[in-house]
Amino acid sequence: MIDDMRIQPARRLRGRFALPGDKSISHRAAMMAALSGGRSRIKNYATSEDCARTLSCLSQLGAVVERDGASVLVTGVGERGLSAPAEPLDCGNSGSTIRMMAGVLAGQEFASTLTGDDSLRARPMRRVIEPLELMGARISSQAGRAPLEIMGRRPLLPVTYEMPVASAQVKSCILLAGLMAEGRTSVIERGGPTRDHTERMLGWFGVPVETTRYRNDPGSVSTFSVEGPAQLLARDGTVPGDISSAVFFMAAAAILPGSELEITGVGLNPTRARVLETFRALGADVRVTDATSNEGLDEGDFNEPSGDLKVIGLGAGSLSPLEDGRSNLLSGALIAQLIDELPMLAVLGTQVEGGLTIRDASELRVKETDRISATVANLRAMGAEVEEYEDGLAVAGQTRLRGARLDARGDHRIAMASAVAALVADGESEIEGAQECVGVSFPEFFRVLESVIER
Ligand code: S3P
Repeated sequence: MIDDMRIQPARRLRGRFALPGDKSISHRAAMMAALSGGRSRIKNYATSEDCARTLSCLSQLGAVVERDGASVLVTGVGERGLSAPAEPLDCGNSGSTIRMMAGVLAGQEFASTLTGDDSLRARPMRRVIEPLELMGARISSQAGRAPLEIMGRRPLLPVTYEMPVASAQVKSCILLAGLMAEGRTSVIERGGPTRDHTERMLGWFGVPVETTRYRNDPGSVSTFSVEGPAQLLARDGTVPGDISSAVFFMAAAAILPGSELEITGVGLNPTRARVLETFRALGADVRVTDATSNEGLDEGDFNEPSGDLKVIGLGAGSLSPLEDGRSNLLSGALIAQLIDELPMLAVLGTQVEGGLTIRDASELRVKETDRISATVANLRAMGAEVEEYEDGLAVAGQTRLRGARLDARGDHRIAMASAVAALVADGESEIEGAQECVGVSFPEFFRVLESVIER
């Protein structure tokens, strides 16, 4: 039984279900709808607390937001129609909200303050402050951390900016600011590709993003450009299910033999779905059934592909080494495409022949918590052999995990990855603070999990 934080091992997972809307896509749909000049209905909007923060910030800025179950109706005011908020904008735990809203606010002729919880106020913000100041906004911070006091400017100055870290939030922040600049704003990305929801979403709302990819470059260089000033056009759409939530179920099902799960309507954007290839490369039986068409690569609403996933549990014994000849290593340009899945992949790695090594992932240290340190501590507590690196970790494989007291450290993905580890371990585990923090991305997580567990 699962209660707030106690988890017993499971025999297998079986069932068919759909997931709440993708968190990354929901944030962007809400922001762009608010910047448009009309009404947009966003169906299957994420139930995540982070996405609710985005909605409350937008309504504080004058957009009209009506929530009706899983749908959100946003009446935009146009990118010139936002008004100065009376209070600071509280982004809670949400890095996507604060970094992307900073881009929107940089182009306004009023002052505003973005802040958040203790975790968010400890995260690095210079990565958005620097480009936005080059575009003419004035931003004061606490030594590069929130609260951010933004004095916007209109029009902004167009820039060509090379990001120092591969970050979709930074790319999106600059492209959103670019809508309010006069001329062409370009973002250069190395070490990616990062998720491309903003580029797809801007196209859906009527503003094309020109993208150049140098695929053969080993460092993977891309350039994204928008022409400003640009006006978005209101448009309805349905958000696909969140693949980053699906992976926790997929991992547990892959490890527990006899499992069979179908997860319907999952977003299959290639910049997010690399995790499916990683599962397959590790020997898991993961299939895309009934994709929108063409293996899920055709675009649906918000220009996003989606489809149904099926996972058959072959058991831990079937999990085999990655066949890249580099001893089960996830590193380089792949990291940006797996960034949110790495704690869960580390758990999966404890069951794989030869284990798993993750490098080039120092960004994990500045997520909602230090996810390298949290993952290392929790897996060690369960008896796994783990080595910690500044930029990653290595887990030994074929380990029988044992139930333990685990700490989510207030981080939703650490809580869910720990829950997967607990399901496949021997004996009971207890995860401190798990129920509370899963709400950041997936409040229904434990309820859905309970509904598919067979003991
Ligand atoms: C996100 C980008 C990633 C990811 C986060 C959501 C987004 O962050 O980890 O959960 O929606 O753009 P970074 O941009 O910091 O890599």
